Amino acid sequence: MSWLVTGGAGYIGAHVVRAMVADGQDVVALDDLSTGDARRVHPGARFVEGSVLDRETLREALQGVTGVVHVAAKKQVGESVAEPLWYYRENLDGLLTVLEECRTAGVGRFVFSSSAATYGMPDVELVTEDIPKAPLSPYGETKLVGEWLLADCTTAFGLQAMNLRYFNVAGAVTPELGDPGVFNLIPLVFQALAKGERPRVFGNDYPTPDGTCLRDYVHVADVADAHLAAVRALDAGQPGSTYNIGRGVGSSVLEVIDVIHEVTGLDTTYDVVDRRPGDPARVVAAVDRIREGLGFQAKHDLRQMVETAWAGWQLRH
Ligand code: WQD
Repeated sequence: MSWLVTGGAGYIGAHVVRAMVADGQDVVALDDLSTGDARRVHPGARFVEGSVLDRETLREALQGVTGVVHVAAKKQVGESVAEPLWYYRENLDGLLTVLEECRTAGVGRFVFSSSAATYGMPDVELVTEDIPKAPLSPYGETKLVGEWLLADCTTAFGLQAMNLRYFNVAGAVTPELGDPGVFNLIPLVFQALAKGERPRVFGNDYPTPDGTCLRDYVHVADVADAHLAAVRALDAGQPGSTYNIGRGVGSSVLEVIDVIHEVTGLDTTYDVVDRRPGDPARVVAAVDRIREGLGFQAKHDLRQMVETAWAGWQLRH
């Protein structure tokens, strides 16, 4: 089966391409290189440079393809608040264009990169897929509306879609594939340490064991494996569904900083600063549905995420 991975030269997309090629899938990777890097694309995949908004390029990339893994999107929460029109253009117009060309080309299988950001501030111990969605940012909104779009396509013309809601992705399979973005906790701590500054903890007065926010960190290798499981399920004729991708375990900001100290050996004395608006105290995935539906379970722990993220950081800096 031949699959197109949009955003295939990006941090997550390149890991997805690598896992699918290793599994013997025939893969085309499409990326406009706005944030991606062509060197990340596994040599076993065909690389097409271009935007998902460019119909001609998209049509060419869709030749002979039976399914699409749609990862291409802008994903910075703060940026989306400042530039909502750009986020809707890139994330939703991009998805719309891909779906229109899929329909024309008769592509009936779709794996969609969604997000825990669709939940907003869930006030539950474990976030199950069916709790009410209340995204707090245009980024999260574009992911939720994307899921609605896919459901409408399933109803209208039988598209089989898997929505994969990523929780907090970290780590890398090789240092070269490390996350170049410095927008999330682990790289932000690395950056502070590299500058000789103290890491900042955004509030320690949350109702959690150590007062800092709990998140479900999941290794990008596991995220890629979950995509492969979804691809194989669709190729086996399994109907589409929506799945959390996480470990089902919460780690606090202080726990992450402690692991960074253990891995790097650096002094991670931190400063506690004001809470960041919109931060929920706890966002931890329920992972029963993906285990039962796709036979997927995350294998890597927090230390492996920090070790591999640190190796990537050191390679780039
Ligand atoms: C994690 C925790 C901060 C930096 C992510 C993104 C996106 C989405 C999942 C896919 C929070 C705290 C952070 C710092 C800190 N994934 N923090 N000091 O907020 O869970 O959002 O959700 O779409 O990756 O939306 O991730 O890494 O920004 O923060 O104390 O210097 O670390 O307050 O509690 P977050 P994050």
